[in-house]
Amino acid sequence: MSEGYYSSKKTDDICEDVCGQARAALSMSRLRCMLRGLDLRTYILLLFVIPLGIFTLYLHGQKVSYFLRPLWESPPKPFHEIPHYYNENVSMETQCKLHGWGIRESPRRVYDAVLFSNELDILTIRWNELFPYVTQFVLLEANSTFTGLPKTLHFASNRDRFKFIVPRLTYGRIGGRFKKGENPFVEEAHQRVALDLLLRKAGIEDDDLLIMSDVDEIPSAHTINLLRWCDDIPPILHLQLRNYMYSFEFHRDNKSWRASVHRYKTGKTRYAHYRQTDYLLADAGWHCSFCFRRISEFIFKMKAYSHNDRVRFSHYLNPKRVQDVICRGANLFDMLPEEYTFKEIIGKMGPIPHSNSAIHLPAYLLNHAEEYKFLLPGNCKREGG
Ligand SMILES: *[C@@H]1O[C@H](CO)[C@@H](O)[C@H](O)[C@H]1NC(C)=O
Ligand SMILES: *[C@@H]1O[C@H](CO)[C@@H](O)[C@H](O)[C@H]1NC(C)=O
Ligand SMILES: *[C@@H]1O[C@H](CO)[C@@H](O)[C@H](O)[C@H]1NC(C)=O
Repeated sequence: MSEGYYSSKKTDDICEDVCGQARAALSMSRLRCMLRGLDLRTYILLLFVIPLGIFTLYLHGQKVSYFLRPLWESPPKPFHEIPHYYNENVSMETQCKLHGWGIRESPRRVYDAVLFSNELDILTIRWNELFPYVTQFVLLEANSTFTGLPKTLHFASNRDRFKFIVPRLTYGRIGGRFKKGENPFVEEAHQRVALDLLLRKAGIEDDDLLIMSDVDEIPSAHTINLLRWCDDIPPILHLQLRNYMYSFEFHRDNKSWRASVHRYKTGKTRYAHYRQTDYLLADAGWHCSFCFRRISEFIFKMKAYSHNDRVRFSHYLNPKRVQDVICRGANLFDMLPEEYTFKEIIGKMGPIPHSNSAIHLPAYLLNHAEEYKFLLPGNCKREGG
């Protein structure tokens, strides 16, 4: 940057010195004079780099803008991260004390509310993980995707799989609005408002705990147990989750933060999935994105979710390609990492490394490893791939 500035200054100086007398002459000759002053590097820039740049932008515009993100966007304000203490052999009283909280006489009631699309397997793991501590599970599904495509009511047609939950389930369905060409985030917001109403129907009251998260953002059971038993926890708390892609074999980072837990306040608490506070509880569960059993489910999700503009070329949806991308731990949309510094972008470019660690995973998954082996290390091949 500073070098470029320096050399252009020098160019001006040359014009001053060599062509000083031409100052009063025609502006045309001054231009020629300036061109003479430009060095070879500048010509290369004009004749070669700029057209090439435009062509690259045409092909990879999205990638380029992500790569340059550190230039135009500064990182969000950092969270106030709360250290998280846990061992199964430590009493609840001690656990609360370690966090600076006291213990209650009885635990809070807990509501877990989700907007459901088609994540049947991950929903099973989620509900089994949280089952011991959740008072009421609330699930809303629409017959439209966020992108306005008609959608089967996957939960309704697989209800048999969820018999264990029925006594504690408040289920709702909502008709999509099927607005063509609308921003998918509008339909998503519409569905979240409907979820607020469903929660009230489910009987939520002040100071009950409410988990707001996507289906694939799974708080660990011991985290929820801690939060229901301790008294002075923050009114809203984001949960830091370990980020996985496709399965627990691909551990991308530990930076998922959108899931949150609220002490419900009637008339104030609104179901949301953006940042709502500065507090973040460390290492509080798992976020498993695109953790599907079948290739067809990957393809449905790629078309249905709010960032569907990322499907820039139709060959992205080719089942063979999708299977290959999964096994490599690469990116389904051929995108660069969404980071705020060049160091992090470059550090995360390319596929996610394979991991052989399957410790500290949801208990239900390990107890049913045969049925869910596609989520465990060494099993990247999917049905229909
Ligand atoms: C938990 O505590 C019991 C009894 O104090 C002890 O026998 C056991 O080994 C401990 N388990 C762990 C995982 O530390
Ligand atoms: C979606 O659901 C609404 C309300 O239940 C219904 O009126 C509408 O016909 C449904 N649309 C489709 C495409 O299934
Ligand atoms: C995530 O956090 C755990 C525990 O702090 C650490 O062992 C692990 O290396 C981290 N993984 C990544 C991918 O950052």
